[in-house]
Amino acid sequence: MREDPTTPRSLEEIERQCFLLLARAVRDRRSALHIATLASAGRDGFPAARSVVLRAADTTHRTLRFHTDQRSAKYAELEADPRVAILFYDPHARLQFRFHAIATLHRGDAAARAVWDGVAAGSRRVYLGLPPGSPSPTPVSGLPAELESRPPTAEESAPGVSNFATIEARLIALDWLHLASGGHRRARFVWPENGPSGATWLVP
Ligand SMILES: Cc1cc2nc3c(=O)[nH]c(=O)nc-3n(C[C@H](O)[C@H](O)[C@H](O)COP(=O)(O)O)c2cc1C
Repeated sequence: MREDPTTPRSLEEIERQCFLLLARAVRDRRSALHIATLASAGRDGFPAARSVVLRAADTTHRTLRFHTDQRSAKYAELEADPRVAILFYDPHARLQFRFHAIATLHRGDAAARAVWDGVAAGSRRVYLGLPPGSPSPTPVSGLPAELESRPPTAEESAPGVSNFATIEARLIALDWLHLASGGHRRARFVWPENGPSGATWLVP
């Protein structure tokens, strides 16, 4: 069976490549890995999954960062239960990453403010409207009328900080899958907070 030359050959190489790809995807908006599916335990008992932008990847501490509105359903879900699943799929590389992670939430603290300072005024817009997911009889953005048609100035965007939150996800396990015509490959990595890390090949 012919080995795909892009397939990492060792578990160590897979782990290194995975974090390298995620770190690159933070800055590359065209990367399929720029968008993750973040799944939490819904308050109604159903798994709750949604797309989120990957904002930072710390390869040393194995953490990923996402931004959200502290009034969103996901924020309340993560406050109640910080366990999350995070899914990435790159159709070009035919790579799937399925992480388990523990989420830490930041809002109104030094960590959230430091990140907020780096968020462009245009991207702060979503934090200036009504609470996301609020029922409405008409399709509304919830933004002040004057901001419907233009991005806010830095001054106008400032109040958004009170709704801004970061989700720091500490990765504790990865189910890695690579699809290849020469043979699929699957591996599992565990990085428990207390205890030794481990890695093993799995039958795909
Ligand atoms: C491509 C894409 C990227 C998104 N990025 C984010 C994001 O970074 N943060 C966020 O809170 N919502 C993001 N959303 C919206 C969420 O998917 C979701 O609709 C919203 O946050 C409400 O989710 P919730 O009710 O489960 O909290 C994104 C949606 C899409 C389609």
